[in-house]
Amino acid sequence: MKMEVKALNLRNRKLTSQAAAIFVKRFGPGSMYNDPWTIESVVENVFRENNKKRHGKIFIAMENGQVIGVGGSHAFSEFMREWGREHLPKEHQAAFKPFGKTYYLDFVAVHPDHENRGIGRKLAEARHEYGKKLGYDSVALRTIHPAREKLARSMGYKMLFEHSGSGRVASSTITQRKYFARRL
Ligand SMILES: CC(C)(COP(=O)(O)OP(=O)(O)OC[C@H]1O[C@@H](n2cnc3c(N)ncnc32)[C@H](O)[C@@H]1OP(=O)(O)O)[C@@H](O)C(=O)NCCC(=O)NCCS
Repeated sequence: MKMEVKALNLRNRKLTSQAAAIFVKRFGPGSMYNDPWTIESVVENVFRENNKKRHGKIFIAMENGQVIGVGGSHAFSEFMREWGREHLPKEHQAAFKPFGKTYYLDFVAVHPDHENRGIGRKLAEARHEYGKKLGYDSVALRTIHPAREKLARSMGYKMLFEHSGSGRVASSTITQRKYFARRL
């Protein structure tokens, strides 16, 4: 069956917990991030929080009735308000100014059995299209993951700066994140 990307409705509990399970696999205990995520905490603290933010949306990639990837996005202004203004120095905040109204590609996770099939790319494209439809000028993301960085660069993103600092979640292992943006 063909892979399709569509918006996740959090009322669909089956698809929501499948998507959360992939998130836990990639960001949770035993992953390179080793954060203490559970399916329940991802649904409450990642998915629901994402969708409360301005223009918050979650896309899933599906194949044979199963979720195989998930990516969330929202207005970049929300990221700045909640995290950037506290943790990023002024000059780094200013680096986003030339990009105008920016949409933020937050988390993305693809099931390890389905990596390198272009699913991360499709999830990014869906969020670009959505941001464009909403009238955003550009998109931004940050990452420490080499595959996401490669993908971002191949989709035309330019790195603006690197910044070290921990997040609000238990990402104390994350030291140096790279920040990217591109026009839509
Ligand atoms: C990042 C992630 C979403 C990519 O998903 P994916 O479906 O494999 O992505 P794609 O297949 O669209 O593209 C991956 C690209 O990275 C490359 N790549 C894969 N593994 C890599 C690695 N370890 N180092 C460098 N590049 C790598 C692939 O060759 C591909 O590039 P290409 O299109 O030029 O061939 C997936 O690896 C993942 O879930 N990682 C764990 C969670 C995470 O760290 N998410 C990002 C932080 S929010």
